[in-house]
Amino acid sequence: MIKYSAADDFIEKLRAQSDIVAIVSEYVPLQKKGRNYWGCCPFHQEKTPSFSVAPDKGFFYCFGCQAGGDVFRFLMKIENIGFGEAAKLLAQKLNIPVPERERSEAERQREQEREEVFQANALARDFFHACLLKSALGIYALSYLKDRGVSVDTAQELKLGFAPDDWSKLATALQKRGIRPEILVKAGLALPRPRDGVYDRFRNRIMFPIEDVRERIIGFGGRVMDDAQPKYLNSPESPVFSKKHVLFNISRAYRAIKDAGRAIVVEGYMDAIALSSQGIRNVVASLGTSFTAEQARLIRHYASEIVFAYDGDAAGQQATLRALSIVRAGGAEVRVASFPGGKDPDEVMRKYGREFVTQCLNSAVGLLDFQMEQILKNSDFADLNGKVSVVNQAVPYLAMADSAVEVDAHIAKLAERLGIDEGSIRSELRRHRGQKEISRPTAIYVRRGNDSRQVAAEEYVLRQVLESPEQFEAVAATLVSGDFQNGPRRTLAETIWRAAAQDKNLRPESLMAELDEETVQLLSRLLLKEEQGPAVPQVLDDCVRIILLARLNAEYEEYRLKADLLLRNGDSQYMQELTNAQRILTKISDLTRMQG
Ligand code: UTP
Ligand code: MN
Repeated sequence: MIKYSAADDFIEKLRAQSDIVAIVSEYVPLQKKGRNYWGCCPFHQEKTPSFSVAPDKGFFYCFGCQAGGDVFRFLMKIENIGFGEAAKLLAQKLNIPVPERERSEAERQREQEREEVFQANALARDFFHACLLKSALGIYALSYLKDRGVSVDTAQELKLGFAPDDWSKLATALQKRGIRPEILVKAGLALPRPRDGVYDRFRNRIMFPIEDVRERIIGFGGRVMDDAQPKYLNSPESPVFSKKHVLFNISRAYRAIKDAGRAIVVEGYMDAIALSSQGIRNVVASLGTSFTAEQARLIRHYASEIVFAYDGDAAGQQATLRALSIVRAGGAEVRVASFPGGKDPDEVMRKYGREFVTQCLNSAVGLLDFQMEQILKNSDFADLNGKVSVVNQAVPYLAMADSAVEVDAHIAKLAERLGIDEGSIRSELRRHRGQKEISRPTAIYVRRGNDSRQVAAEEYVLRQVLESPEQFEAVAATLVSGDFQNGPRRTLAETIWRAAAQDKNLRPESLMAELDEETVQLLSRLLLKEEQGPAVPQVLDDCVRIILLARLNAEYEEYRLKADLLLRNGDSQYMQELTNAQRILTKISDLTRMQG
């Protein structure tokens, strides 16, 4: 979510003075057709234009890839920058001076410190790199790398380095260049000595600089060249290094990730280097076995698909399973590549070559496939107990999957593998789903899923409110935001209702600050949609009524189910619930009659 800065007036000024068609045209040739402008979308590959810009509304939307937003979003997406930077860039283009935001002393100091840490890290990287390539100290390290298949060219490209076997070579060199000892400690490059002064953290290790997307050095990993422990020593958390956000190689990979539409995630530095140096550029390393939601989110900026290529050993597979549940929660498509013989991608690359690795990556399997495979692999299902256990383990995963078709296929496959009847797996699955509902009565509140009439009605209402905010009052007299179906439409409604409650502006561009990507897409689509129902009060009323009816239906269903449950448990309260259900039913039939 974007945080608009305090300089809101400034943002408004930028918006008012910028012509979205002119800005977009700097990147994409546009042609006027009807009210809007059209071109080939810069955010996905296409030959016929489905990317449109509405000059009057100040929004763009691609009907092919759903990218959408206002002029700020456009710059953020196309330049791969944050909101603040997009605002600055726009100001530059419009020749409007950027106001210096008032910053507190503490803020200013933190910013200064971060700058100094970045500077120290950059100098440290250069120092380590020179030790590896330009100094006799690095001879052994360089031959170690060569033995592992890392060429001098690659070492140069990645600015790999060597930390000499000494307590203070780095600290001395950097202090000579004006870096204060406190900053060395803050950066995690040095540790304080008990009495006085500092000593180097990284000694006698191959150094892997870690960059953020903007190519700033945020930290290092250092590998020993023998069996000493720890094998890798990493920078500690610092003002610029937060382990859970780190993806090694992201600065070199993000464009390739965007182009390929997917990211390959490996565990280790050497895995990323092996793939990347062989031309598989869309690879990042999660550094260690736990993959975080933050890392998933970072990748999702560039692509919606993640292919995990973790080590083939048991630990790697377990890590993959954990990673998968994290990524799934973030809504990415996930696939899993497996490598033979418990090897990691680096070893497979060295042993079997690029062609083979590419094959493994291309035959990566879907989430459910992998989960089922893991269960079967780790179970002995020769006897009945074993079969029951496999089904019990599989059912929760099947219940979680989105696609009924996929679930069906897996039930069939599983039945075949176990030599049992499909029906028994299905009934377990039903039982599992049923149990979940009874233990969590609130989950009973089911909406009729993908009713296209309801969707159309919700979209019509939202669009009318966005186009003419003065209609909001009439809509809000009947509907609350919770009446909209879960997902972007609900989020958009909530944002509108909240803004109205706070007496804020309901214009689309004013709502932008609070919206997530998916909701921005919806908003942009609604604004740029050509075919729309006629903007007459009668249609709006009908749409409001359709939504209201859906709410009443759901409420009725809820009371009825509650009554059912109570009755089954022999609780006399059920009468009350039945009365409630009846009351709602009456309302429903009144409304339906009105609709004719
Ligand atoms: P691995 O033990 O799989 O190492 O750890 P690797 O990547 O195959 O390394 P090589 O091939 O032996 O050089 C995977 C990742 O886990 C983190 C590192 O980021 C490593 O790349 N790790 C591992 C540590 O942070 N510390 C350790 O002591 C070990
Ligand atoms: Mn390895």
